[in-house]
Amino acid sequence: MNIVVVGAQWGDEGKGKLIDILSKDSDITVRYQGGNNAGHTVVVGKQVYVFHLIPSAILHKGKTCVIGNGAVIDPKALLDEIAGLKKRKIEVTSRKLKISGLAHVVMPYHRILDGLRESKRKNKIGTTGRGIGPCYADKVTRCGIRMVDLLNPRILKEKLEDNLREKNEIFSKVYGQHDFAFGDIYKEYLGYGQQLKAYVCDAALFLNREIDRKQSVLFEGAQGTFLDIDFGTYPFVTSSNSIVGGASSGTGVPPTKIDKVIACVKAYTTRVGEGPFPSEFADRLKDEIRNKGQEFGATTGRPRRCGWFDAVLVRYSVILNGISELAVMKLDVLDDLPKLKICTAYRHRGKIYKDFPMDFEVLNRAEPIYEELDGWQTATNGIRKFQALPPNARRYVDRVEELVGARIKYISIGSKRDEIIVR
Ligand code: IMP
Repeated sequence: MNIVVVGAQWGDEGKGKLIDILSKDSDITVRYQGGNNAGHTVVVGKQVYVFHLIPSAILHKGKTCVIGNGAVIDPKALLDEIAGLKKRKIEVTSRKLKISGLAHVVMPYHRILDGLRESKRKNKIGTTGRGIGPCYADKVTRCGIRMVDLLNPRILKEKLEDNLREKNEIFSKVYGQHDFAFGDIYKEYLGYGQQLKAYVCDAALFLNREIDRKQSVLFEGAQGTFLDIDFGTYPFVTSSNSIVGGASSGTGVPPTKIDKVIACVKAYTTRVGEGPFPSEFADRLKDEIRNKGQEFGATTGRPRRCGWFDAVLVRYSVILNGISELAVMKLDVLDDLPKLKICTAYRHRGKIYKDFPMDFEVLNRAEPIYEELDGWQTATNGIRKFQALPPNARRYVDRVEELVGARIKYISIGSKRDEIIVR
């Protein structure tokens, strides 16, 4: 069975934990988009692992992890991640990790440009500053450098010279910055190529051949549906397709070979960075939930914005991703609240929106319409069966299921591997 796991909100839904659980039953896990802007946290006993580029399935013996062509790779960050894992005695051989030669490489000028572009914007996106947007922009304008280019000194030289000719002009004339020196970058990136050479392959061929011999693949989405470049809250989005469609173009595995889509949602909503967020909490609750849920970015450490569960968003996610099953994460964070709200529609200038509006202004000024439910005010961490949850917690889960139109199969009630209810 080939399964895609996506985030149904603005990322950080807890996909890392679900992927860690599901990857035990998959032979291969593949990352299909994004770069080291992502951060997946997995807790195993007392050990906390934070992954940025490598699928967390690397923790399981005998499994293969793949970084697909749709991802963008900062080679230094990847090498640091590999070194960190090896230090903790996790094996990272070329049999366990494979990297698509077609994945684009994040260059030093991408990281700098990310920050400079933000500094010039009136409405800042609040990017992670990892050079992700400029790297994808170069991919689309056809001047990007790919992993396979790092293995060919002549091609790398040609492409880097072309890039620096243009970029150095932009840096000096538009931003008043120093030039990038060809020699330093060339040497550095050829070195990365040599260190990563063993992992680079035609990942699309590898994946399709493995599927043909009945190996199962788990596709790991990074970020979330509303950070998708096409369907997210543009321009406050990331630069790749984080919805299920990206799984195909980002790996070379056709949609006909994908069997199931599972989405993660938090029992409430969070987002990092700027952009519209209709159901965002007022200050007091924001601090309470942020601290209880440890809502700080796994990559940048930035505090996440928090709000009530927004059924309008997730309903749209269910449609866009063809979601067959949902996993509701961090339900336990809501344990203490006497009352809970679910946003069921938006109101703007007297008009009711039950569907996610395209018009940015509507979304930005939308007033959420809430349904109120009683809280359960009981600890849920120790519970392993749905029927054993407090009745009000079950009512909350059932109501979410009804409003978003997808079956809730998993309910997570803590950060540890076993703190999950499977229905
Ligand atoms: P970028 O991906 O660094 O360009 O950032 C674009 C937007 O996506 C910003 O609002 C980031 O905070 C957000 N973003 C990127 N990666 C993640 C993630 O893994 N979780 C949550 N938000 C993210």
